[in-house]
Amino acid sequence: MKSYYFDHAATTPMHPEVASAMLTIMQGSGGNPSSMHAFGREAKLQVSRARDTIAAALGCKPTELVFTSGGTESDNAAVIGAAMAMRKLGKTHIITSTAEHHAVLHTCEFLSREGFSVTYLPVDGTGKVSPEDVAAAITPETGLITIMHGNNEVGTLNPIEAIGAVAKAQGVLFHVDAVQSFGLLDYRLQQLPVDFMSFSAHKINGPQGVGALYIANGTPFEPIAHGGSQERKRRPGTENVAGIAGFAKAVDICVNNRAEKQLSMDKLRKEWIERLKTALPDVEIVVNGDENNSLPHIINLSFIGIDTETMLMSLDLAGIAASSGSACTSGALERSHVLRAMNLSEERLNSAVRFSFGLGNTVEELEDAAKIVGTISARVRTNV
Ligand SMILES: Cc1ncc(COP(=O)(O)O)c(C=O)c1O
Repeated sequence: MKSYYFDHAATTPMHPEVASAMLTIMQGSGGNPSSMHAFGREAKLQVSRARDTIAAALGCKPTELVFTSGGTESDNAAVIGAAMAMRKLGKTHIITSTAEHHAVLHTCEFLSREGFSVTYLPVDGTGKVSPEDVAAAITPETGLITIMHGNNEVGTLNPIEAIGAVAKAQGVLFHVDAVQSFGLLDYRLQQLPVDFMSFSAHKINGPQGVGALYIANGTPFEPIAHGGSQERKRRPGTENVAGIAGFAKAVDICVNNRAEKQLSMDKLRKEWIERLKTALPDVEIVVNGDENNSLPHIINLSFIGIDTETMLMSLDLAGIAASSGSACTSGALERSHVLRAMNLSEERLNSAVRFSFGLGNTVEELEDAAKIVGTISARVRTNV
């Protein structure tokens, strides 16, 4: 059976050149970057080269990048690390939004149990945070604002420059989760009013289990882990050398293909909607999010009248991988906190499916897959 992978927001296939760069390192001498001898120096060189590549791609200084185990750790390190440092200055209030990734939301919940107060800002019907709401929520105790750039469930982009300007004007630290947008959007970090930014390699055709956190020079920060003096004491532990080199290779590929990838993802997303509308003429298909203010590779659609579980299970049986964007616990899908935050009607909430595109997807695939969705929809609806 042919299979179709439309879940690139969950994880992406590794680019062959990334795998090959990692294999070269894994089959090499394998030193510890902290060792003084030649093996260690070679490993350290690999990490430094990777840091230089990624820093150049992001427009920041290499010393401003800390390698981590991925997006979740970067978010935790930024939010907890900034909160702890700001508490020393008497600032114990954090501002975030209800549509953030759980890596941020659950970290904020942890911090509120530790005595911090957290304001969860609402989002509009497309999943966007308003800079005016951010400004209105700031108090003399506010130490940190953490708002994502591109939403992982609906793709909606937040106005991070405007929010960052509000944060700067009030002397509040600003963290941005850029896990989904990195690779598709071009960041010049030194020109952005951002203090922390989170990245993950496996969302950009790099390896799983590697990420980075940008910490602007001079930003108050307390490390969340303690041990050796790696990463300038901001993230101790022996570095994942092959993973870091693979990450840099993936970044290199992104930088060289960004414009082309943006266009092709945008085309796939638009084609997908059109083809589905043709293949399912009797089903109302609604876009959740904002097609005109979105990451190009993510589209969240409600197939009114067909519930999410039925659709996802039928898609899976037909070889199509998509997602509800929400967690699956004890066999039952929980409704997405992002779609709830967007205040969608129950019928949209109960029929939403996220499709996300990337390396390897083609218009021909979409054509086949749309026909399959059409058959699924006809079957499901006759069974109702
Ligand atoms: C917006 C966002 N933040 C954080 C993460 C967590 O990243 P990782 O899987 O690398 O821990 C994800 C992953 O889905 C994400 O989409």
